[in-house]
Amino acid sequence: MMFDELRSAVAKLESAIASGPIVPTVTPQEIRGYLASRYDFTTPLALDEVAADVEGMLRTWQVQVTHPRYFGLFNPSVTLASIIGDTLVAMYNPQLATWRTSPAANEIERHTLAWLGGKFGLPAGASASFTSGGAEANLSAVIVALTRAFPEYGEHGLGRLGAAPTIYLTGEAHHSFNKVAHMAGLGRRAVRTVGTDGQLQMDLGDLARRVAEDRHEGLAPFMVVGTVGTTGAGVIDPLPELARFCRAEGLWLHVDAAWGGAAILSPRLRGHLAGIEAADSITCDAHKWFSVPMAAGMFFCRHPEAVGAAFRAETSYMPGKTVGPVVDPYTTSVQWSRRFIGLKLFLALAERGEAGYVEMIEHQARMGDVLRAALRRAGWRVVNTTPLPVVCFTREGLDPATFVAALYERQIAWMSQVRLGAGAPVVRACITSFRTTESDIEWVVREMGRLT
Ligand SMILES: Cc1ncc(COP(=O)(O)O)c(C=O)c1O
Repeated sequence: MMFDELRSAVAKLESAIASGPIVPTVTPQEIRGYLASRYDFTTPLALDEVAADVEGMLRTWQVQVTHPRYFGLFNPSVTLASIIGDTLVAMYNPQLATWRTSPAANEIERHTLAWLGGKFGLPAGASASFTSGGAEANLSAVIVALTRAFPEYGEHGLGRLGAAPTIYLTGEAHHSFNKVAHMAGLGRRAVRTVGTDGQLQMDLGDLARRVAEDRHEGLAPFMVVGTVGTTGAGVIDPLPELARFCRAEGLWLHVDAAWGGAAILSPRLRGHLAGIEAADSITCDAHKWFSVPMAAGMFFCRHPEAVGAAFRAETSYMPGKTVGPVVDPYTTSVQWSRRFIGLKLFLALAERGEAGYVEMIEHQARMGDVLRAALRRAGWRVVNTTPLPVVCFTREGLDPATFVAALYERQIAWMSQVRLGAGAPVVRACITSFRTTESDIEWVVREMGRLT
């Protein structure tokens, strides 16, 4: 199968997006009126016409996250190989619930995940699966950790436990854990917020104090979450110390490396992830710094028996359990019917090779350094410390909300505002596109100077 038409459509789109607006100005009423006037689904329409119309809507009414000046929330530009991967998946529609239905797809995923799990330093027998994203991977981690720590949980629920289980993370960790605690029946108060040091990394003294206090109060601590690349400021928690603490206290260490996990490939950056090899489980998203289209998360766990216990399922309507050295994904993960999520990562890795990926990741890290330096030269104050390409900044008297609104209005760049710790809101810019160049950054910083 040749993908020449797709290749040239992608190339055309890339240059159209790079030279067009980044941020749309549209109201819900405008889009609803447009859809209502054209699509009542009573008369069939020509597919070419509808597809062109929808493409027009996406081109006009969307923040263009693949724009080189989208400095946003970890939404990447996507490689051609990964687009082809998703197209192939849609064409063949492999069902990933069982191994026997889609042997090729299952083995391609297993191969890809085993390779990446090895990079994280996990043992060969570790369990790994593709998920819809980081939130599902974090949900998986909590369910598996609960199942292992409290064997009664699976059959009898939390009500049977003598004490309420608790999770420890910082205020900078991803807020999916609050939803996870709600969904898992732990309740949102089970998420205990640990203090941070001056660089927003988890304060180990405070962690130890809170765990001890909670035990004293009759609660049942079972999990600590360390983040590699917090969403707001790109902070990496002190993983070796967390691993030591968790081992000594009998707690599950989950590392949420949804965005920053890709840095494990980089010889320049991977030292900052030291300690991740000791994690009980890891979240890493392919649809962030691995630059493939959504939705593609990954959940790794060094305890396959706990994963099997958490997600076990038996029915008469599913094909019989596949025997041999394989698993049926519906018995080892949250999802049942599942898309062949892993192909886009497999194809992109195969096409670029590890060296190509290292270059892509290190390019973005370098662009983060370029941005930091350009901002400082222009008199901005950078307020976060990280080797990863997230830069949070401000200047005396700046109102970040007004500032980012002006950036959008003049189509200079997409950035956001964020509140770090107990501080006032600041501006946040993350290099999420492998297409961002030094001249994009210099132009943006120059234009920003004209706004303030
Ligand atoms: C650190 C971290 N963890 C988890 C998530 C959630 O991932 P997803 O949006 O893929 O569900 C994010 C999203 O940005 C994140 O930054």
